[in-house]
Amino acid sequence: MRRPVVMGNWKLNGSKAMVTELLNGLNTATADIDGVDVVVAPPALYIDQAERLIKENASKLILGAQNTDVNNSGAFTGDMSPEMLKDFGATHIIIGHSERREYHEESDEFVAKKFAFLKENGLIPVLCIGESDAQNEAGETESVVSRQIDAVINHCGIEAFNGAIIAYEPIWAIGTGKAATADDAQRIHAFIRSHVAKHDAAVAEQLIIQYGGSVKPENAQSYFQNPDIDGALVGGASLKADSFAAIAAAAAEAKKA
Ligand code: PGA
Repeated sequence: MRRPVVMGNWKLNGSKAMVTELLNGLNTATADIDGVDVVVAPPALYIDQAERLIKENASKLILGAQNTDVNNSGAFTGDMSPEMLKDFGATHIIIGHSERREYHEESDEFVAKKFAFLKENGLIPVLCIGESDAQNEAGETESVVSRQIDAVINHCGIEAFNGAIIAYEPIWAIGTGKAATADDAQRIHAFIRSHVAKHDAAVAEQLIIQYGGSVKPENAQSYFQNPDIDGALVGGASLKADSFAAIAAAAAEAKKA
């Protein structure tokens, strides 16, 4: 049985006051939820503050981040490295989010390099994949997600997916309120797992595949009751302690043995 992972992607949102309030709220709201890994990915500037609050509260919350560079140090202005992320206790690192692919022109190959470098440094890549609205309309979803996964397999080998996470996020569902139906998400998740299984069945079996795109407390359970949906990557609803905790609770409940 795969242990579900629910991760909050705060994107470019936060202030010192907000980080304190949200993490203290989350600590209380998730204290009694077992059977799920609950991860928060604040903006880089607040990772230090988040690490301190998580330690002070002796919280079960796990720290993550939204990006990484492909170098650990040197003349790379504006970047942050896996070594630095590790220094602050961040373990789950989002890469290949559609917003970075679009606004920073990150290619499949560059994302694959990030994946490899995170693994080399002992961190957990959370690889975001997913199709655009036009690709969805054109029936290209499976070919797009295959291409995005194959870029990593070609660069890193299939074993690199051991202990890694894939987040399937249809771009048209991100921040739009127009979530994929649970049936459609399950179908694509099953396709993703079978695609990985073609290379290595054992790697596919342990792989955590999260759904992302307008996940809310109201629809969370419908996703998690499906066998191939192992958690969620949550944007908007992760900025409110009660909503995010409710999503985590739904995952724990749906996946309990
Ligand atoms: P959303 O974002 O939950 O606000 O749709 C999800 C994401 O971008 O990871």
